[in-house]
Amino acid sequence: MTAPVPPAETLRTALAALLDGLPPKRAAQAVDRLIATYRGATPTDTPILRDRADVAAYAAYRMPATFEAVHAALEALAQALPDWTPAGHTDVGGGTGAATWAVTATWPGDREVTVLDWSDPALALGREIAAANPALKDARWQRARIGQDLALPATDLVTVSYVLNELTPADRTALVDTAAASAQTVVIVEAGTPAGYARVIEARDRLIAAGFRVAAPCPHSAACPIVPGEDWCHFSARVSRSSLHRQVKGGSLPYEDEKFSYVAATRLPATPVPARVIRRPQIRKGQVLLDLCEPDEQLARRTVTKRHGDLYKAARDAAWGDGWPPPDRP
Ligand SMILES: C[S@@+](CC[C@H](N)C(=O)[O-])C[C@H]1O[C@@H](n2cnc3c(N)ncnc32)[C@H](O)[C@@H]1O
Repeated sequence: MTAPVPPAETLRTALAALLDGLPPKRAAQAVDRLIATYRGATPTDTPILRDRADVAAYAAYRMPATFEAVHAALEALAQALPDWTPAGHTDVGGGTGAATWAVTATWPGDREVTVLDWSDPALALGREIAAANPALKDARWQRARIGQDLALPATDLVTVSYVLNELTPADRTALVDTAAASAQTVVIVEAGTPAGYARVIEARDRLIAAGFRVAAPCPHSAACPIVPGEDWCHFSARVSRSSLHRQVKGGSLPYEDEKFSYVAATRLPATPVPARVIRRPQIRKGQVLLDLCEPDEQLARRTVTKRHGDLYKAARDAAWGDGWPPPDRP
């Protein structure tokens, strides 16, 4: 029997096929316009993703990155809830469905999936790409406007990925409160910028006020020890670059690093990591410097040296975003 193709690879193939019918110049123009729109004033009154060319360009250009960011956040959540598999998932502002793919990559198998968005072309393309993923065959792709009147079905998991940025402050809080009322577990992902982090922290506070506990990335549900304006909590996911990427951005690197901020919060009894590596570890001769977020609401730089034996070996393998120490170690 041949091994099943992982969702990440299936997604890459499906996205490459999307561009087959689109002249490269048209795709690059659509990406340029989207980048300019996102740099300008959001929120907008109408969908930014207006037609199939916009959506195909968005999907080919951004979906691999949003998929990897959400996947990394979900893997951290899965570590904190090792015995849990969501039986239902609602992706709000789901667009072309990157988060639905990330959920199937984290927890294989069928579940009830609903994708909500106000852009019909995004939903149509999402459904088309999802035909390549058997776990998404019964997904519902529904038009919905996020706002004070949004109603969400009761479910296990709600994801909100790269959406808060596009909402008014009032709609952001309404969405987080509605998500908290409808799901056991909520995952919010934003760009890894100071502004993205600020939106994540605002959502984190609301989820905790609604009775949730943070499962990841924080080792605790107390106040974030980062001083706003001085720093921001964010992580990095490696993304293979497509030919469209190379065309729009130039350069020859086969990958780029997507920076993202996130919070995964739950009403379930989760076990957060003891501490989390919040910067790229610095490897020096005979020692590794780890910047950690620790349980007692503090940030600390810990030095792990050769004299720490196995722990030193583990520190050399530790990556930005990992829990620390690794499981089964002192
Ligand atoms: C940057 S895209 C992110 C798409 C997807 N979640 C991802 O991670 O790739 C933002 C999505 O939010 C949707 N959106 C923005 N404002 C919305 C609103 N008020 N109601 C419904 N959807 C909205 C857009 O149509 C778009 O699909």
